[in-house]
Amino acid sequence: MKTILVTGASRGIGLEWTRQSLGRGHRLLATCRNPDNAQGLLTLRESHPDLLNILPLDVEDEGSVTRLFSELEKKSESIDLLFNNAGVIDWEDMLNVSSASLEKIFKVNVVGALLVLRAAIPSLRRSSNPIVANVSSRLGSIELRGNTQLGGAIGYQCSKAALNMLTKQASIDLAPFGITVLSQSPGWVRTDMGGSEAKFSVEEAVTNMLGHLEHAGPSLNGKFLGEDGVELSW
Ligand SMILES: NC(=O)c1ccc[n+]([C@@H]2O[C@H](COP(=O)([O-])OP(=O)(O)OC[C@H]3O[C@@H](n4cnc5c(N)ncnc54)[C@H](OP(=O)(O)O)[C@@H]3O)[C@@H](O)[C@H]2O)c1
Repeated sequence: MKTILVTGASRGIGLEWTRQSLGRGHRLLATCRNPDNAQGLLTLRESHPDLLNILPLDVEDEGSVTRLFSELEKKSESIDLLFNNAGVIDWEDMLNVSSASLEKIFKVNVVGALLVLRAAIPSLRRSSNPIVANVSSRLGSIELRGNTQLGGAIGYQCSKAALNMLTKQASIDLAPFGITVLSQSPGWVRTDMGGSEAKFSVEEAVTNMLGHLEHAGPSLNGKFLGEDGVELSW
């Protein structure tokens, strides 16, 4: 049994990740902005009261990050897998995106991911095989630009490219602590973000990701994985 902390667990990939991980017997610290309104998580807790903790976390709010992790620290919590998943998108292209939207996207997808990762280090260090999975996207690959159907969501693309740099740098900085840091693209998934035309159901996408991440270890440090587990170019 692993202890897994998930950000953005209220819906979409984060909620399904929580559901499937519970089904595999793992213990979940499922975080979201509004635990009282997170109906999907509240329903899951009815069937898994001992394995599922629902905790408040707004990754945009540094105070919220500090509060959560100081509570975890008081309990000397150990985290085996940080699923750094919370994210937002704006499909506007470079000519139309507003500066306010760019700031918002970077605050959630990059700054939030970094604050959570950094705050989680003490808990990760208590694990014997700690993994950080930053949920990235093929849209964050500079190399793949022009080779995929989607594109033009400039703020999102830049944010995921920046998240990938966080993965790479953290994989170097945290290697002495034995912490494996990787980026994982879930593929194009039918969620509120991905829309109804997307290729994968959320169930399929999470089954694929869990398959790659459940047994991950240091050999994946600093890698960018696609939904099929094959390495993507940065
Ligand atoms: N769907 C795709 O096709 C696709 C493809 C590639 C990558 N991804 C990545 O996969 C991750 C999950 O996406 P998804 O498709 O599940 O999106 P989604 O259905 O829109 O869900 C996004 C999740 O992020 C949470 N969130 C947003 N801002 C937050 C904040 N400030 N603090 C904490 N949580 C916050 C949302 O919480 P609320 O309910 O409170 O808003 C929600 O739980 C994202 O990082 C996304 O970029 C998705």
